[in-house]
Order: sequence, then structure tokens, then C-alpha cells
Amino acid sequence: MSLTPICDFVNKYLRSGTLRAHMPGHKGLGGFGAEADITEIAGADELYEPEGIIRESEKIAARLFGAGKTLYSAEGSSLSIRAMLYLLLLNAKQQEKRERYFLLAARNAHISLVSACSLLDLDIEWLWPEDASLLNCPVDPRALDEKLAGMAEKPIAVYLTSPDYLGNVQNIRDIALVCHWHGVLLAVDNAHGAYLRFLENDLHPITLGADICCDSAHKTLPCLTGAGYLHISRYALFLAENAERAMALFASTSPSYLILQSLDRANEYLSNGYREALRCFVPKLDALKERLAAKGFSLVGSEKLKLTLAPKGFGYTGTELAAFLRKNGIECEAADPDHTVLMLTPETGEEGLLRIEKAFGLLERREASMEQPPALPRPERIMTVREAVLSPQQRLSAERAFGRIMGNGYCGCPPAVPVVVPGERIDEAALRCMRYYGFSACTVVK
Ligand SMILES: Cc1ncc(COP(=O)(O)O)c(C=O)c1O
Repeated sequence: MSLTPICDFVNKYLRSGTLRAHMPGHKGLGGFGAEADITEIAGADELYEPEGIIRESEKIAARLFGAGKTLYSAEGSSLSIRAMLYLLLLNAKQQEKRERYFLLAARNAHISLVSACSLLDLDIEWLWPEDASLLNCPVDPRALDEKLAGMAEKPIAVYLTSPDYLGNVQNIRDIALVCHWHGVLLAVDNAHGAYLRFLENDLHPITLGADICCDSAHKTLPCLTGAGYLHISRYALFLAENAERAMALFASTSPSYLILQSLDRANEYLSNGYREALRCFVPKLDALKERLAAKGFSLVGSEKLKLTLAPKGFGYTGTELAAFLRKNGIECEAADPDHTVLMLTPETGEEGLLRIEKAFGLLERREASMEQPPALPRPERIMTVREAVLSPQQRLSAERAFGRIMGNGYCGCPPAVPVVVPGERIDEAALRCMRYYGFSACTVVK
């Protein structure tokens, strides 16, 4: 049986010489892969009502990921997150009628969670552990247990971002046990962790007990930008009933077949060779991390495919280090005053690692900087995310926004984690934090 039914169909179609009297308008001409860019023609199946090659390909992906059901997204994890929350909300409404439906989420959530909640009119209660920072929110299973035990009303789910942008990983196994003990579902934003399933020690959230999760295939697997998955655990298949319709509700009606082919093609690699590629690459990256640590660089996070440095001890801000690496021919994924993040994959290869090490060898050590990031603000909530997002808006410089209510939390990407979520008041602590991370303007409720 073929592992790539979508690619097989497109290849056969291209060879057939059929006149393309259908979208897209480029008719297969114009370069950058346009030839294989088709649309939902007869035989090509439909992404949100799949009965043919897409269904077949998604089933192969579900088997590979050990999920009860896997759906493809041609619009990244952002789409999967909207669908995931919709399914969780539907499920909660089917279970019981409540005054209020809300999510219990770790605060370091990506902006796509906030936009999903504004669309769904879903309230969020935040988890703010003592040691949380803007980008890291380590949830302690025991603290979560106490929190859930003390809640009169249960959330529709607990929502975690793991791995996070820096490569910190939550204790999904224990957190899943706690959630299920309290009869609460666990949803994970695993945008950064599609590859975790294929490590020798499988660390994918679905394996560890999450009920539902999104993966951005394009972040760590060799897939085109926009490729993603929505995975539903075999123990939570009640969430799967409306899954295609949930995706369709928020998605374009013209999914990219290039992206679908890259997801389909990935199945072949994930079945044959990818595990081995990871098995060879990860120890080499681990060894590089050890050598950098021995030279005095502080490393952050335990995620295998991220190299995150906290270079202030070496005398550089994260952004300065990223600029230095750029000058030396290396472009990082993200940088802020405290961190420089490099995302690497087996495709980086040993040669890529050598280039990185060589560049670090050219970096002169400077006097350590003692500057600490400001404490994470806990802004007062004035209205719901939806109320704020749907209110008339006004763009102001951050300084003039003091005391105003955040209207739209959009904040540059990466990493797109809002300091102040829509509906919260911008106080002095929030302003300090916004200044520190370089946000000079924001959109407030008028
Ligand atoms: C943690 C996290 N979640 C979700 C997303 C959204 O993923 P995508 O870009 O695949 O839509 C991102 C994107 O950077 C992310 O970092």
C-alpha cells in the first residue's frame, strides 16, 4: 500500500496532460512549485469532508502519531487551535449546561489561543505559577491538583503550551493524570513538538496522555510552511465526531494542495528513515550543547531540537547574539533581551552544527550583564477577551496606553505571546514589561 496517496494522485494527474479548466489561475505555470498546486478536483478528495486520498493519508498520519484521529491543517497550528477549542467547548456544552464556560490555561500561550477565545467567546482563567515568566510557565502537577480541587466550576479543559518557544517542556504525563483524576480534559499546544513522537523516548503529548493537541508540522518536520495537524487521542474520540466541521468553520475553503502533499510526503519519511535521522542528529546537537555550556554559555530548556541560549552571562543580550550570528551567516528563529533561539532539525546536518560552533568560537566573552527581566505583570481583567476584541479600537503609543484596556493583543511574531491579553488593563508593571520587550505601541479599547 502506498504511504503517499495524495502525492500519487497529483503526480498521475500531472502526467495525464489534462487541460486545467479549474482553479488556481496559474494553470500550473509560473514556477515555485505551481505545477503541483491543484485544487479539490474530482478524485483529489475534500479536506474537510475527506472520503478518499486525504482520508487515507490522514489515517496513515494517525497511525504514525499513535492518535485516535489525525486531521491535516493547511493553515498551521493556528487553525488547529481554533478547531480544538471549538470541539472542547461543544463537548462541555453537550455534557452540561453551565453559567460560564472557561479554559484553564498556562499564561505563556501563543496569541492564536487568544484569537480562538475571542471567536468562541470563551473565557480564560490563567495559571500563573510563581516562577512564570513571559515565555515560560512551568505548571506543577501538585499545584494544579490543588487548583482543580478548589474549583467550584470545572474548566472545559486545561491548556498548556509545551514545548514552549524556549524549549521548556511541561510534565505532560503527570499533568494528564491530574486532569483526568478531576474529570477535566487536557489540551496541548504542541506546535513546536511534532517530532517528539519519533524520538527514541517518545515524548509526544498524545502518547503522554493529552486528549487533544495541535502540531505545526512545518516547525520541526520537513514540511511546507502552514502544514499542521490536529490530533485526537484514541481515549477521547468523542471529540472527533465534529472535528472536520470544526476545522472547516475557521478555515479557507481553498486548502493548499502543496501543503497537503508535503504532509502526505512526510508520512513516507516518518515511516522510513526519520527516526534514524533523529537518532543520529540529536546526540550531535546534545554534544554541541555540552561544548557550548563548557565554554560558559547558559542554555535553556530540555527540548531536543532547540538550542536556546541565555547569553547575558557571556556579556550579550539575546538580540545582540542573534545579530552576531547573522553577521556570521546564521539566522536564528527568535531573540529577545534574554534569549537567542535556534531551531535545528536533522536537515541542519552535521555541517550546520559545525558552522554554528565555529561562529560561537569567534564570539569574545564580555563582562556579564546583571540586568534581569521585569517581573511578569498580572494585569487586572476588566472585560472578556471577546468583548475587548469586538470593541472599537484605537492605536496608541505604549506610554499613552497607561490605564487603558488592551483591545487586541496582537504582538509581533515570534514568539507572539501577549504581555497583556485583550480585556486586561495596562498598568505600570505591564508597561515596564512591554518596554523591555520592545513593544512601542498597542491597540486599546476606545
Ligand atoms: C506555541 C505556538 N503555538 C501556536 C503557533 C501557531 O502556529 P502556526 O504558525 O503553525 O499557525 C505558534 C507559532 O509560532 C507557536 O509558537
